[in-house]
Amino acid sequence: MKPSEGDVLLAPVPVSKEHPAPRRPAPGAPPVMNHAMSTYKVGYFVGSLSSTSINRTLSEALVNLAPKDLAFSEIPIDDLPLYSPDFDSDYPAEARALKDRIAASDAVLFVTPEYNRSIPGALKNAIDWASRPWGQNSFDHVPAGVIGASIGQIGTAVAQQSLRGVLSFCNARQMTAPEAYIHFRPDVFAGGEVTDEETAGFLRGYLEEFRDHVERVHTVIPRNQ
Ligand SMILES: Cc1cc2nc3c(=O)[nH]c(=O)nc-3n(C[C@H](O)[C@H](O)[C@H](O)COP(=O)(O)O)c2cc1C
Repeated sequence: MKPSEGDVLLAPVPVSKEHPAPRRPAPGAPPVMNHAMSTYKVGYFVGSLSSTSINRTLSEALVNLAPKDLAFSEIPIDDLPLYSPDFDSDYPAEARALKDRIAASDAVLFVTPEYNRSIPGALKNAIDWASRPWGQNSFDHVPAGVIGASIGQIGTAVAQQSLRGVLSFCNARQMTAPEAYIHFRPDVFAGGEVTDEETAGFLRGYLEEFRDHVERVHTVIPRNQ
């Protein structure tokens, strides 16, 4: 469906000339990376606890559009108690499971809403759990991506900036471009299917760039060594 005048910020919107929509090789161009060897396990976080989360819908769309060599599984955050350093000497089972899931992942992807121009508390709580105990930061050197959907016009841009600061401190290896700020429209995301080819193409490109990013990080920093 073509955008018409009066529509605002049809998802997805490249945000700057410096970081435009994903750059893919022209048809027939030689591949940039060698994808022959690996399937990468991507643990993804949905930053919303809502039973009608549009970010969960976005995550379903991403799973459906992903290249074959990305194997996605959700890392749940809804059963975690609130983090306290008092737990550092004896993590509860839910928090140990969280850290185990990240350890078993080759990369992590954050699919998150924006709450009051920042990260939802539940997601921040999960990151705090995973980053501790001191010296056992689960995100250290882990390839990471950030994406989010909002009903608002800025498509989670401010929350993502906030999240990126947190992930920097956690020493995650973030994909910095392309960025993906999705202004959610129910007619574009029919459940896990994306009905608009332009949006589907953008998300496919985002995922291919993410796969390349994961591969680059693993080339320099092999996982679990
Ligand atoms: C506590 C709260 C704060 C919100 N703050 C923002 C905001 O800062 N920016 C924004 O674009 N939308 C904001 N929203 C609206 C969300 O974009 C909208 O509720 C969206 O559906 C949340 O994603 P989810 O459906 O995946 O939970 C807020 C919603 C809630 C409940």
